[in-house]
Amino acid sequence: MRAVQFTEYGGPEVLELVETERPVSAVDGVLIAVEAAAVNPVDTYFREGAYEPAELPWIPGSDVAGTVVEAGDETDFAVGDRVFATGLGNSRQGTCAEYVAAPASAVAELPESLSFAEGAAMALVGVTAWQSLVAACSLEPGERVLVHGGSGGVGHLAIQLAAATGARVTTTASPTYHDRLIDLGADDALDYRRDDLDDAVVAAGRPDVLLDHRLDDYLSFDARVAAQGGRIAAIGNTDSSATFADVPACRAKALSVHHVSMFNTPEFGAVLARLATLAADGAIEPVVVREYDLAEVADAQRAVLDESFLGKLVVTPDLSARRPSLRVCQSSLTSTAR
Ligand SMILES: NC(=O)c1ccc[n+]([C@@H]2O[C@H](COP(=O)([O-])OP(=O)(O)OC[C@H]3O[C@@H](n4cnc5c(N)ncnc54)[C@H](OP(=O)(O)O)[C@@H]3O)[C@@H](O)[C@H]2O)c1
Repeated sequence: MRAVQFTEYGGPEVLELVETERPVSAVDGVLIAVEAAAVNPVDTYFREGAYEPAELPWIPGSDVAGTVVEAGDETDFAVGDRVFATGLGNSRQGTCAEYVAAPASAVAELPESLSFAEGAAMALVGVTAWQSLVAACSLEPGERVLVHGGSGGVGHLAIQLAAATGARVTTTASPTYHDRLIDLGADDALDYRRDDLDDAVVAAGRPDVLLDHRLDDYLSFDARVAAQGGRIAAIGNTDSSATFADVPACRAKALSVHHVSMFNTPEFGAVLARLATLAADGAIEPVVVREYDLAEVADAQRAVLDESFLGKLVVTPDLSARRPSLRVCQSSLTSTAR
């Protein structure tokens, strides 16, 4: 099969498109013919060696959507099922390939109403949003949520998931995306570059739950604006240190911080099945911004860190063959590179 892999750590140039052995599915797993694999910032951390993959050479990619071509006896899946999965590309080889072997526990059925690209786009970021808002922070209807970076992969799903639970949502994002984020379910969208961002967040309503993808920038901010008893879901940082400026104030507010890694999800398939139900009901809608061929994964990994967009970048193994009908959502793209 064709797959993208790296044999040494480094920049996007270490990624190579190669012919390699098709993986073998286990009795408790499935073999998926890949129709789409999404691109995430974490793919670049593995490629650079900041996170260590289980072995080298390594195939990047954690999300997949496709068709089951082999189903183990100990699974409920059948050949021909449309499925999606995530949690791969960490202790198991990843998804930027024509075939992927996955444990059944990481797989769920993909609703007919979702394309393969949408399924791949929703998987890792949807599970991250779920693990943060629902599993870690026990978000309840009527509570207020602050989603930092609402146009991002995680952010745009988190806004929709929070709105679907009946929460009130404040998000921060570049102004280009505010109207679309309101359409997706945000009640308030604020420019994260505002000097008075903390006042604006408080004016919208102090958040009970805060989803923070840049702890080094926002941890003290979160503590200032949070409601009494606020819960912070901490999913990312740009620098490894992050501190509270005023710890007694955090104590007085009884704040809690939940460090979330989606790779710790006990059963990915169970969360994916919930997301699939919400998507089939139209409550959440993954946004696919742009599709790349397997030969273009290096470009996709550059873009996921360097470009600004609302939603997700997706890899489609035989995209060159389909290119004339390729859907590119220009309304989700901005020319401003970061
Ligand atoms: N812990 C976990 O399990 C987990 C899972 C998924 C992701 N993550 C991490 O979470 C972070 C976001 O992931 P992602 O997939 O959503 O990435 P993404 O799609 O690249 O989105 C990043 C978002 O951050 C926004 N942003 C940039 N600078 C900002 C600032 N100063 N303040 C607020 N927002 C800002 C960007 O908006 P503009 O484009 O307008 O600048 C963009 O919308 C990454 O660090 C990723 O590694 C962690």
